[in-house]
Amino acid sequence: MFIDSFKVESPNVKYTDHEIQSVYNYETTELVHEIRDGTYQWVVKPKTLRYEFKTDIHLPKLGVMLVGWGGNNGATLTGGVIANREGISWATKDKVQQANYFGSLTQVSAIRVGSYNGEEIYAPFKSLLPMVKPEDIVFGGWDISDMNLADAMARAKVFDIDLQKQLRPYMESMVPLPGIYDPDFIAANQGDRANNVIKGTKKEQVQQIIKDIREFKEKNKVDKVVVLWTANTERYSNVIVGLNDTVESLMGSLEKDVAEISPSTLYAIACVLENVPFVNGSPQNTFVPGLIDLAIQRNCLIGGDDFKSGQTKMKSVLVDFLVGAGIKPTSIVSYNHLGNNDGMNLSAPQTFRSKEISKSNVVDDMVSSNGILYEPGEHPDHVVVIKYVPYVGDSKRAMDEYTSEIFMGGKNTIVLHNTCEDSLLAAPIILDLVLLAELSSRIQLKAEGEAKFHSFHPVATILSYLTKAPLVPPGTPVINALSKQRAMLENILRACIGLAPENNMILEYK
Ligand code: NAI
Repeated sequence: MFIDSFKVESPNVKYTDHEIQSVYNYETTELVHEIRDGTYQWVVKPKTLRYEFKTDIHLPKLGVMLVGWGGNNGATLTGGVIANREGISWATKDKVQQANYFGSLTQVSAIRVGSYNGEEIYAPFKSLLPMVKPEDIVFGGWDISDMNLADAMARAKVFDIDLQKQLRPYMESMVPLPGIYDPDFIAANQGDRANNVIKGTKKEQVQQIIKDIREFKEKNKVDKVVVLWTANTERYSNVIVGLNDTVESLMGSLEKDVAEISPSTLYAIACVLENVPFVNGSPQNTFVPGLIDLAIQRNCLIGGDDFKSGQTKMKSVLVDFLVGAGIKPTSIVSYNHLGNNDGMNLSAPQTFRSKEISKSNVVDDMVSSNGILYEPGEHPDHVVVIKYVPYVGDSKRAMDEYTSEIFMGGKNTIVLHNTCEDSLLAAPIILDLVLLAELSSRIQLKAEGEAKFHSFHPVATILSYLTKAPLVPPGTPVINALSKQRAMLENILRACIGLAPENNMILEYK
């Protein structure tokens, strides 16, 4: 059975007119490796830590500024939200289609609340805590191409034509602000598009982005802004001592107009200085060490990297399943054919390399979790190929072959053909990223023994379900397995309303 909403009644939870307060007992374990009976032994000690959470329930008017607003993702997300807001439906060759948010964890997925009369009860994920409604978001942003969003939607060739016709009047007047363009960081084939660029030194460019954010806030009367990079994949920037390895070196390099600071890092510096959350949806290392430290110093949320939409999402499910079943993946080969502008940009070796890196590390945590299957340091062969095939447009083809060793030396091969509809998969993920980034900025927590409430660590691991290569604070494990990432997010939100983690034990019926 499905219910729309619920309220928690517990001595550990208090709803006031401005916040939800909860006290939460975090059941965890402490590991010790010590000499017992003359030999080293692992000893596991269960322990309970008391946390307090408080969530501000006042919903801000939210502005979202996309870097690369006129790209396929930007135009698809903007049009999709307008279509939902206006209740647009359109004729396809199959049926009359209604606008929806399919693919969005926050808007369309469900959580289990409990059981009632022998039946499982589910509710919308978004009923866990108050979240901004997508239709209330004001969109804006930058693009190095000055094309308005209606024409950008046509250029993207993603939406059905009847839908495009209905959306056009809403999107024609939306024109991206000039962006920071540096041909050294993206493929040369993008040069023709760059007719809308910010001039000046790098420092002046950062100042312009700050000005743009302030003006956008003022003009649209929004309380909060989240900025998200959905622009072209850049090449990696070199991380060099004295250049970008510390806050001082990065800010010093900005003063000296050093060439090796990428446009995405410049936008991120501007956001951190303005205390505006910045999420990176592409694979490059925008978050160089100096920038991560700057975000930590200023307690400004940063999150990334690279949307986890199609092939990688499948991979982080399938390999988790195989390894979890005691089967040993030994070779994973992934081919991608894509024909959109992203594909054209990725046809250059340097930008492809960024994607290759973020796609390659995605099974590491699962492989290292099973020392029965894999020797220390052993890893499956993992190859990623991306080819630009203009004809397939935005309908990316992802073909994967997984070969695994099974019982008694047998081999199992799984072949997947995934037609990804790239931007239709990515747009709801962008929505989730900005909504969850906004929500997490309203949550404060305090562990037992801590004197004061504080926000989550500025490096937002809470967003990791949505990213291919989750950015984590130094010294934190990287989790790629999709089910673990989802459970982490859901369970943290449950803790904020004093509910136990979903443990699936259903002991009531055992
Ligand atoms: P796109 O090429 O259609 O859009 C990118 C836009 O960014 C273009 O309009 C371009 O003019 C603009 N741009 C480039 N550099 C800029 C800069 N420095 N400042 C402002 N604007 C700039 O690409 P698409 O398909 O929208 O993808 C966007 C990004 O998302 C790509 O990096 C892609 O790798 C990444 N991504 C996409 C996924 C998907 O499923 N669609 C999945 C994972 C990542």
